[in-house]
Amino acid sequence: MYGRRATEPLVPERAEGRARIDAYAARFGRWEELAGVRTRPQRSFGGPGSLYFPPELYPVATHPLVTGLDGERVEWLLLRRLHAYLDFTSELESLAVMPVATAISRGRSGLLLPEGMRADAFKIVTDEAWHAQTSYDFAHQLQSASGLPLGRPADGPPAFVERLDAIRDELPPEIRGVEALLFAIVSETLISGILAEIPRDERLPRSVREHVRDHAEDEGRHHVYFRDVLQHLWAALTPKERAAVGPHVPAAVYAFLEPDYARTVQDLRMLGLSDEEAAQVVEESWPRERLVRDVAEAARPVVRYFGEAGALDDARTRAVFEDTGLLGRG
Ligand SMILES: [Fe+2]
Ligand SMILES: [Fe+2]
Repeated sequence: MYGRRATEPLVPERAEGRARIDAYAARFGRWEELAGVRTRPQRSFGGPGSLYFPPELYPVATHPLVTGLDGERVEWLLLRRLHAYLDFTSELESLAVMPVATAISRGRSGLLLPEGMRADAFKIVTDEAWHAQTSYDFAHQLQSASGLPLGRPADGPPAFVERLDAIRDELPPEIRGVEALLFAIVSETLISGILAEIPRDERLPRSVREHVRDHAEDEGRHHVYFRDVLQHLWAALTPKERAAVGPHVPAAVYAFLEPDYARTVQDLRMLGLSDEEAAQVVEESWPRERLVRDVAEAARPVVRYFGEAGALDDARTRAVFEDTGLLGRG
């Protein structure tokens, strides 16, 4: 088993070899001076703050069935949302980003990447391990400080895991594994509202803003790197593989950005809402057109990069991007 695991590539290799691009401008030359793990302390959760998560980014908190409850319960819901974000981050780094960056660093991505990209992938693994660690520690402190049960529902993984499995199941078997690269590219190059907005939201405790800002700064470097990974990936795929993979890119975007509905329902039930009320709050808080608009907005850079790589030249791929609203219609 270990022998197989040590040599197995992430994307299946083809006997005749994949196309490669040799150019790469190293991105992490000043990593020692800039990386959060080298330059930032572990932030300690603490107040003061009047809010724990921006309700604009979690619209269930502004639904009348929720705002009709007492203020303490709304505050609890936002604390839970912050905790869910920290937990999501830890899981995302550990399950989705580090394995891909590790495969690249070991020369086992299945793509023929320039040597400099392997060296930089090691730095990304270190960055992401730090993000997972600090998110876990911050969540733990939040849990102790609030005295509230903040665990994950039924200890299940975040929703993106199941969504990623569904994408994998739909891919032709000979190209399975590429979904891991797609998901890493998508999640590393889109601009999530959380990373963009929390650092400057002065209603939140300073510690929360600093924790997210530290992460966002590292992600700026990762963004540029994974944009390059996409160029290499698309060049390496055959036209037939591109046509098989392209239509699944929007699902990868939604897998990352769509809310974790099950987790929200569980929280609403814990607040005392009935099953029907919880379902109503979720449905009315994320009407489809609002969700599509928000996803399309966050995914704008991703869509542009896939377009630059040539992914949208395939008619079926383009149609799925259109149908899912990622091209601004839909
Ligand atoms: Fe990260
Ligand atoms: Fe990252």
